Amino acid sequence: MHLLIPAAGRGRRMGAKKNKLLLPLMDRPLMSWTLEAVAAASSVSWIGLIGQPEDFPAFEAILAELTLAVPVQFAIGGATRQESVFAGLQALPAGATQVAIHDGARCLATPALFDRLSESLAEHLGAIAAVPVKDTLKLVNEQRMICATPDRTRMWAAQTPQGFAVPELLRCHREGRARGWQVTDDAALFERCELPVQVVEGEETNLKVTTPVDLAIAEVILRKRGAT
Ligand code: CTP
Ligand code: MG
Repeated sequence: MHLLIPAAGRGRRMGAKKNKLLLPLMDRPLMSWTLEAVAAASSVSWIGLIGQPEDFPAFEAILAELTLAVPVQFAIGGATRQESVFAGLQALPAGATQVAIHDGARCLATPALFDRLSESLAEHLGAIAAVPVKDTLKLVNEQRMICATPDRTRMWAAQTPQGFAVPELLRCHREGRARGWQVTDDAALFERCELPVQVVEGEETNLKVTTPVDLAIAEVILRKRGAT
């Protein structure tokens, strides 16, 4: 399958001066870990890296340090993640049938997760990685009063990678743009178009590096893996 990496954010919650994906994690930029894991998955044949042009030289430098087995093409991202993914979809080579989207900020996903997703995609139009929630969730109103406690056994926390049949995902993105839907993941667009999405077992360690605490946790996990 083809794979798009949205990497065009600014990382505001990280509070750094540059894109959080360029910050060091252990001895190399965070983005380097993401690219290495994605490219090591046997199910991934092509990578589209969606970024802001000002970050392209840094991404080029990261790629120059890696020896990846798959081609990487750059695409220019937009103002929101949704717009960045849409831009990435336009950059897919003609004939691409299945595409996975994986956040650049999820640098700890293992290659096996992409292969698991790809297996599910062989049978379903959409599939996403997710994990059962550990906390009890509360639905609250504007006054922050609790409205409901959803049954936790049926609640899963969505991660990436998320994979889809290309024509269907394109249609959902176009529909979302036309109707002004604003979503935080691609599965939400699929759901709104009433297309089926299967959940595949994600990874507890597949965190999205968002704040400085996440960066520290990611380092601990990598050290435990004995990564260098
Ligand atoms: N992303 C993107 N284009 C955007 C915004 C986000 O490609 N306009 C990407 C980010 O680079 C990241 C992924 O989407 O890999 C998930 O977004 P998030 O974790 O929110 O990253 P940022 O938007 O960079 O961080 P923040 O929201 O704190 O500014
Ligand atoms: Mg963001």
